[in-house]
Amino acid sequence: MDIRVEQGKAEKYPCELLLLFSFETPEPLEGPVRDVDLEWKGFITRLMEQGDFKGELFECRLFHTHGALPARRVLLTGLGKRGEFDLDKWRGASSKAGQFLRDSGIKELAIPVKGFDGLSEEELAESLVTGLLLGTYQFNEFKTQDRDKIKRIEKVVVLGETAKEKEALAEGVGKGEIISKAVCMARDLVNGPSNQITPSALAEKAREIAKDQAMEIQVLDVAQAEALGMGAFVAVAKGSQEPGRFIILEYNKGKGMDTIALVGKGITFDSGGLSIKPSEKMERMKDDMSGAAAVLAIMQVASRLKIPLHLVGIIPATENLPSGKAYKPGDVLKTLSGQTVEVISTDAEGRLILSDALAYSLRYQPKAIIDLATLTGACVIALGDYVIGLFGNDESLLKRVEEASAKTGEKVWRLPLWDEYFEYLKSDVADFRNVGTRSAGAIIGGIFLSKFVNKRPWIHLDIAGPAYIEKDRPYTPKGATGVGVRLVVQMLRDWQHS
Ligand code: BES
Ligand code: ZN
Ligand code: ZN
Repeated sequence: MDIRVEQGKAEKYPCELLLLFSFETPEPLEGPVRDVDLEWKGFITRLMEQGDFKGELFECRLFHTHGALPARRVLLTGLGKRGEFDLDKWRGASSKAGQFLRDSGIKELAIPVKGFDGLSEEELAESLVTGLLLGTYQFNEFKTQDRDKIKRIEKVVVLGETAKEKEALAEGVGKGEIISKAVCMARDLVNGPSNQITPSALAEKAREIAKDQAMEIQVLDVAQAEALGMGAFVAVAKGSQEPGRFIILEYNKGKGMDTIALVGKGITFDSGGLSIKPSEKMERMKDDMSGAAAVLAIMQVASRLKIPLHLVGIIPATENLPSGKAYKPGDVLKTLSGQTVEVISTDAEGRLILSDALAYSLRYQPKAIIDLATLTGACVIALGDYVIGLFGNDESLLKRVEEASAKTGEKVWRLPLWDEYFEYLKSDVADFRNVGTRSAGAIIGGIFLSKFVNKRPWIHLDIAGPAYIEKDRPYTPKGATGVGVRLVVQMLRDWQHS
């Protein structure tokens, strides 16, 4: 989708299709839809009076103008009740309009945008583009049949009335594109099957991003990780023939900016290992590298938006498989932190590889550590698939995440890390066990991770629920979602201000 910004008036603009938004009746028309209505001799007003278009949330109605306007067609899209409107509804409405037009075979359109109610052209344009790009995302890479039937919107013109408005729109469009394309990259990686998206493929992707964005990159193999003392990561990686990779990306190195470490769980396939999972739905476990994909996307955005922070992206990437070389329940592992772990379940592998990645991140003395991980099925039981489980040891960091959540619509909910839960992780033979009880599973996973950050400010995002969804949402088609990317990017963008 090629998105451009032009200056012009909606009612005078010649195009295949003009996309207009309106609140639900009886709100009076305002902004571009009102200007078009005047030029169209009250056509839209009459439609609404007669109940042919009500402006209900996500309602889409297509009309031909028969020469009454320079635009050949108009799509009216409802924004719902004015009092309930927010940027998330706006993202949803632009997505729904985009999906409707794509499915109708429309390839080109123009969208006039004007600020209102304290919402600037820039933020409206950013969210509009986010809705359009994320809502019309499709994963067709492996479909070989009927490829000519795949429909796509090719060209979008975002229209501003004045030169100043055009400039503001261009800012918003640019940011929206950078962020949404990165989310789609993350989705592609997660939707990609594990025979393609291997640890080495993740490392290659990281190299590509590093090269493109002039970042530093280091990729350790399992022998190098072993030499450093990453006994937990190595134990998991050894069960697979597919070589593990420990990836470190660094942006703005040595510039004296605040350092933030981003750690992403990169299990490219989680069979459970010897504590093998039931076969039903096991195919979903290709999504167990959603945290890693998010970290790659966040690093790319940070660099493209020139966010003034020193970021270190750390991705332990490996499969978790059973084999003659696989680690076993009862094994004791020596982690990079020096602490030992008794393996109870080889299916609690995420916290093991993350323990070494978190410990590794301490080398950079980060002001904050943020990990993203599809860590526990228990988090899905607790919060469902709309919500990220939010954990952390620092109130101001937690607040930053919650503020970013309100802005982006990526929902988070706090869960506690109280000391009492640590009881469950005590081991008779090592410092901890890797599994506690079934109850409070998400919290116990978080408690385990907390033992490896040395009390540094840290956030753990359990994205097991929302990383991959079975049903379409307004601007998130079913499948991989790229969750966490917009949330963390927003938090990083706001870092200096809050
Ligand atoms: N990758 C899974 C968590 C998961 C489960 C993500 C379902 C998405 C959907 C993780 O490695 C795992 O298997 N966790 C175990 C932990 C348990 C053994 C303590 C779980 O949640 O059952
Ligand atoms: Zn597992
Ligand atoms: Zn896992």
